[in-house]
Amino acid sequence: MSIEKTLTDSERLAELDADQLHRLVGLVEHDPSGDPFPVTGWDTVVWAVGNATQAALLFRTVYGMELVAYSGPETGNRDHHAYVLRSGAARFELRGAVDPASPVADHHRAHGDGVVDIALEVPDVDRCVAHARAEGAVVLVEPHDVGDEHGTVRTAAIATYGETRHTLVDRSRYHGPYLPGYVARRSPRTGPRLFQALDHVVGNVELGRMDEWVEFYRRVMGFTNMAEFVGDDIATEYSALMSKVVASGNHRVKFPLNEPSPGKRKSQIDEYLQFYGGPGAQHLALATNDILGTVDVLRERGVEFLHTPDAYYSDPELRARIGEVRGPIEELRSRGILVDRDEDGYLLQIFTKPLGDRPTVFFELIERHGSLGFGKGNFKALFEAIEREQERRGNT
Ligand SMILES: [Fe+2]
Repeated sequence: MSIEKTLTDSERLAELDADQLHRLVGLVEHDPSGDPFPVTGWDTVVWAVGNATQAALLFRTVYGMELVAYSGPETGNRDHHAYVLRSGAARFELRGAVDPASPVADHHRAHGDGVVDIALEVPDVDRCVAHARAEGAVVLVEPHDVGDEHGTVRTAAIATYGETRHTLVDRSRYHGPYLPGYVARRSPRTGPRLFQALDHVVGNVELGRMDEWVEFYRRVMGFTNMAEFVGDDIATEYSALMSKVVASGNHRVKFPLNEPSPGKRKSQIDEYLQFYGGPGAQHLALATNDILGTVDVLRERGVEFLHTPDAYYSDPELRARIGEVRGPIEELRSRGILVDRDEDGYLLQIFTKPLGDRPTVFFELIERHGSLGFGKGNFKALFEAIEREQERRGNT
């Protein structure tokens, strides 16, 4: 099957084609017929936050997302507000409790602002759930239909690390703005579109359980290991992590999984696990085709990024490793953008500071030029930057 035929509705709506998606997120051709758990792509990243009304405003006016759908007291949902936003093919739903007894409030009390659900679009919900159950997954919501005047969605949910879930969505018979129960609500974008798609979502899991979760994604969801493996070799003096990456057959959905590794001090993963209250989504990588322009706009709007030391750019070893990249290194240095290269090409990346009040979830911006990696070569420089931030927060 050609890649073009398997584009999602969100990608078509965002006017992305297979070539662009190959460049942006490393999309590859995949024959789903032999896949026990075929995944078309990302459906929605669902967040539980302390104030969805304000978070939606932030994601619109700072991150340039468009509001597309809404559910709340005015639409009969007395439990919580839900704002659905998109940027290119990426879609987020932000939930914030209205009723003090809402489960969204409980989740927020326990974890702070965070990702509750990494929903995936699948062509056959029942087949996926049957396979997942046979492989021992916890089925949180059995397959069922939900419908309204726009059609029918078939959906179910399985549990993953911590309190995170994967809702599975087949929207092939649905033409509404998002899901039944939500109404269309539009807002214009503020300025240019800053990111086009979601590239990967990183999960932080408990000490010693990374391989178990890698195995979960392989066995239960038919994901495959990607080459990148990070072991103790990239440890800084004080903190270390172990990381492996699993991906769906077409590589649209990529999940790096981190676990802490013992170091002299508390690692960034330990800090996350402590403040999130367990495993959860650590960062979401947003694919952009203009990281320079996007960083300029976001800085102008007040977004703070992790500081990259000047020494990073003058290190002759790094210069030799990254070789020629688009534009002069000075352009990257002035913005703190990191570069990594592997045998397939290179990538540019930068990380924001935590989005909420707790030192937990944050964004990465990534511009790929052939490289299908995740910035392994930058881990050490990045850790050192994070350690400086941890020290300032008193969490060492
Ligand atoms: Fe990343």
